[in-house]
Order: sequence, then structure tokens, then C-alpha cells
Amino acid sequence: MALYPFLCLVFCLTVSAEFVWKHHNNEELPLVLEEVHQKCPNISRIYALTEPSVCNVPLYVIEFSDTPGFHQPYKPEVKYVGNIHGNEVLGRELLLGLAHYLCDQYLKNDRRIRALIHSTRIHLLPSMNPDGWQLSTDTGGRDYLIGRYNNHSVDLNRNFPDLDAITFEFERQGINHNNHLLKDVTRLAAPLEPETRAVMRWIMSVPFVLSAAMHGGDLVANYPYDESKTGAPDSDYSASPDDDTFRDLATAYASAHADMASATRRGCRTTGADDSGSYNFGKQGGVTNGAAWYSLKGGMQDFNYLATNAFEITLELGCEKYPHAKDLSKEWERNREALLAYLWKAHIGVKGIVSDDSGFIQNAIISVVNITGPVPRPIRHDVTTGAYGDYYRLLTPGHYEVTASHPGYFPVSRVVTVPENQTSAHVLNFRLEPTTSWFDDEIGFGVYPHASRDAQPRIYKRSLYERVASTMLEDKDHKH
Ligand SMILES: *[C@@H]1O[C@H](CO)[C@@H](O)[C@H](O)[C@H]1NC(C)=O
Ligand SMILES: *[C@@H]1O[C@H](CO)[C@@H](O)[C@H](O)[C@H]1NC(C)=O
Ligand SMILES: *[C@@H]1O[C@H](CO)[C@@H](O)[C@H](O)[C@H]1NC(C)=O
Ligand SMILES: *[C@@H]1O[C@H](CO)[C@@H](O)[C@H](O)[C@H]1NC(C)=O
Ligand SMILES: [Zn+2]
Repeated sequence: MALYPFLCLVFCLTVSAEFVWKHHNNEELPLVLEEVHQKCPNISRIYALTEPSVCNVPLYVIEFSDTPGFHQPYKPEVKYVGNIHGNEVLGRELLLGLAHYLCDQYLKNDRRIRALIHSTRIHLLPSMNPDGWQLSTDTGGRDYLIGRYNNHSVDLNRNFPDLDAITFEFERQGINHNNHLLKDVTRLAAPLEPETRAVMRWIMSVPFVLSAAMHGGDLVANYPYDESKTGAPDSDYSASPDDDTFRDLATAYASAHADMASATRRGCRTTGADDSGSYNFGKQGGVTNGAAWYSLKGGMQDFNYLATNAFEITLELGCEKYPHAKDLSKEWERNREALLAYLWKAHIGVKGIVSDDSGFIQNAIISVVNITGPVPRPIRHDVTTGAYGDYYRLLTPGHYEVTASHPGYFPVSRVVTVPENQTSAHVLNFRLEPTTSWFDDEIGFGVYPHASRDAQPRIYKRSLYERVASTMLEDKDHKH
């Protein structure tokens, strides 16, 4: 992730502090971010992803945190990604507006925004597809498809490795290997585009726990899985192990939006008074399972969930893909509370640190059984600990048995109650005991040589994220 240190030398004299609602072009976009950073240098940082777009436009991110540039244990990381389809542009402008808003409210001592920024690391990528945006804009921004794709005519939201196929196969075979599945990919359906590769490297290298990707063309919060389990093209609900949690996350956005969840609003494709036969998501709370709407392979949402610890949903922000500039500030008002409510969702469930006598344990596995109802139900999607031994397990209110495990240690389980309306995840730390030291302490097992204990890799220095990013990503795409 290259830093962008020299922008200021060129542009600092020309920046103005007032945010204007309009369609910002690819030259103006980094200037807007730079304005925000100038106003809020202590809580923001601008960086570009590792690779630019096909037409060489950098993919800029602005980060908000009280420790910009650094992950801190107990502090969840969240991202918003806008404009993945180049002609779906509202998310791009909302994220620029959100960047200004977070900074301005922080400076005005807005207590809620200060608490959010002090407890959360927030990354905003306003445009994942600047080339598509350019084409769409140059052709008037009215077409349903022109500008959707990147400059290689590839749909970026179909270009991610299809991990759904892998997890469905494991499910069918009863194999309980349910996370970080990128290393199980044996071939890619298509070469990775530069924008896809840049975003993959990003999501594999930052320990995100929550995310949303922004689209347009309908008004609904869509949650995993996007791919059906039977191959049906539509109307085939495809539940993930975290179905309850995903529904809760999507509902958090929809119900805080002005009318996404309104049962009385009209559906986007309604022609007359009668909207039977077309989807009206307002009548179902403003949320939908992806495959229950229509099935797609290679989407970014499911990739996040199946390749990393991040839970991602997809936001369709309105019927109009390219709204008129004069409507943008109204759209901001309609989305503002939802954008903030969703960021707070990074704080639901439990979080903590897994360690042993000598330090943090990276890549420990956190598994959860839902013991709220009469029958315990395992949630077959584990999360793993990161560089500081820290984990974040998003959960809805209820009672859970949480287990931390790692090869070479005895697993430890604890029971926890997740309350409603959390603004901070319940802290649950684990101290694991190496199996070898247990043998050392037992009379009769004293013959176990200390050498074998010392040979135990106690702390894995390289994270799963880095390992996968540096090996799988590199050679897989070169084979095609
Ligand atoms: C940034 O932090 C420094 C040192 O703590 C402080 O003096 C300065 O006022 C802060 N600037 C802003 C814009 O908050
Ligand atoms: C790629 O970009 C060039 C230069 O902007 C443009 O002329 C061309 O139409 C674009 N092609 C596609 C397929 O988007
Ligand atoms: C656990 O079970 C309860 C009761 O069935 C349910 O309300 C809750 O959403 C479940 N939690 C998760 C994370 O699935
Ligand atoms: C949680 O918030 C909702 C909505 O604000 C409220 O109706 C509910 O009573 C709250 N629950 C608790 C336990 O505070
Ligand atoms: Zn889209």
C-alpha cells in the first residue's frame, strides 16, 4: 500500500475546505481526500492500493483512526467500497461526503463521532473502478450498462475467485473447513483484473471485520451468499452459517436509511400501481439474501467472508445508478444515519486476545456454538486471530460457547452472553496452555525432552493474510 506523500506539494495551495455535492472526477477525488486530511491530519491518512486501474488511475483510500497507519488490538477495522461498477456512482460521492463529515464532526467535538473514531479503524475506498466511471460519465451517465465494467470489459464483481463452490463442496462432504479458503483454490475461472488484485491484496493484508460494497440500481441491503447452492439462477435462498448475523447487519443499514426498509415505498422496477411480479424490497424490511434475489459467482461480498475474517454486505443505494448532481445532498441526508449505524456494527459480539505465557498466539481459531435455544447449534464459520493475537467475532444477542484453539495447545472454551445494542464488543480473552508443558508437569511424563517443546512454533510470525497474499495471489494469475 503505497503512501502518497507528494500530493500536498502540488495541491495544498489550491484546496478549499468546503465540501460541494457534485460528481467529482478522477482528478478531483484525491483532492477532496487531501482537503480532509489537511483539516484532520491527526486522525486520517491517505494511501493508494498496490496497483492502479487498467488506465493507470490510483485507487485511493482514506483511513480514519486515532492511530492512522496502525492496527491496534481490540480495535476493529471496517471498510466501505464505492463505485465497483463504474456507472453506479452514488456510493463514490457518499464516501467523499462521509470523509468530510467524519472530520468536521470530530473537530466539532461530536461525542458520537469521536467515540467511533477512537474505537474503530475506518477505511473508505470511494472508487474501485475509476475507468468505468470515466466511460460512463463521458457517455452521459444514463446507460444501464455502459461503464459498468473496467477498461478490459470485465465485471469486477464477478472477477473474484469463486470460494462459494469450495465451501458448498466441503459442506456436502461434511468437511468442517470453513474459513480462509483462498488456499483451497486450484484454478481461476478468469485472470484477475488489476483492480480485483489490488483489492484482494488489500483485504488479505488488513484485518477487516466488517465491510460494505456500494452499488446502485435498486434499494436494498443484500447479504451472503450471493451464489445459490443448487445452481438456480434466482429465488434460491443461500444461507451462510452466519445468516442471523448477516441479516442483523443488513437490517442495521436498511432500517437507519430514510426509506430502504419502508413497506409503503414503491419497488424500483414498478411501472403502475401494481408491483406484483417485480421485487419490492421495502416489503421485506429492505434486506435480501443475495441468491434469493439472483445468483452470481465471483462476487466480492462472498469472497470477503470466505477468504478472510471480514463480514461484507452489498448495498444497493437507489433505483438511479447515476443520480443527478442536484440530488446528491438529499441522498446524503437519506443515507447518513445508516452509514454511521453500520460502522458501529463492527462492535457487536465478542472480541479478545489469545495468548500463552510467552506472548500472543496468531492464527488461533475461534469457534462458536450458539447455546441460546434448547439445542446447541455450532456456527460453522470460524474466525482467526491476527498479528496481536486479537480476534473479533460478530454475533447477534444470545448465549454462546466460544472456543479458542491452536495446534500444540489445549483448547479453552468459555460461555458468554452477548447483549443488545452494543457499542463495544464483549471482551473475552483466552490464555492457552501448551500440551507439552502439561506433559512436563506430570509425574511419569518427565522423560519428555525439552527440545521438543522448544521446537514448537509458539507464535506464528507470518499471518495467514500475508502468506496467502504473497504466494497464492502471485503465481495463480500467472498460470492463466
Ligand atoms: C493534532 O495533534 C497535535 C498534538 O497532539 C495538536 O497540537 C493539534 O492541535 C492536533 N490538530 C488537530 C487539527 O486536531
Ligand atoms: C478504455 O479507455 C479508453 C481511454 O479512456 C477508452 O477510449 C475506451 O473506450 C475504454 N474501453 C473500455 C472497454 O472501457
Ligand atoms: C443464536 O440463536 C438465537 C435463538 O435461536 C438467535 O436469535 C440468534 O440470532 C442466534 N445467533 C446467531 C449468531 O446465529
Ligand atoms: C435496544 O435499542 C432498541 C432500539 O433503540 C430499543 O427498542 C431496545 O429497547 C434496546 N434494548 C435494550 C436492552 O436496551
Ligand atoms: Zn452494481
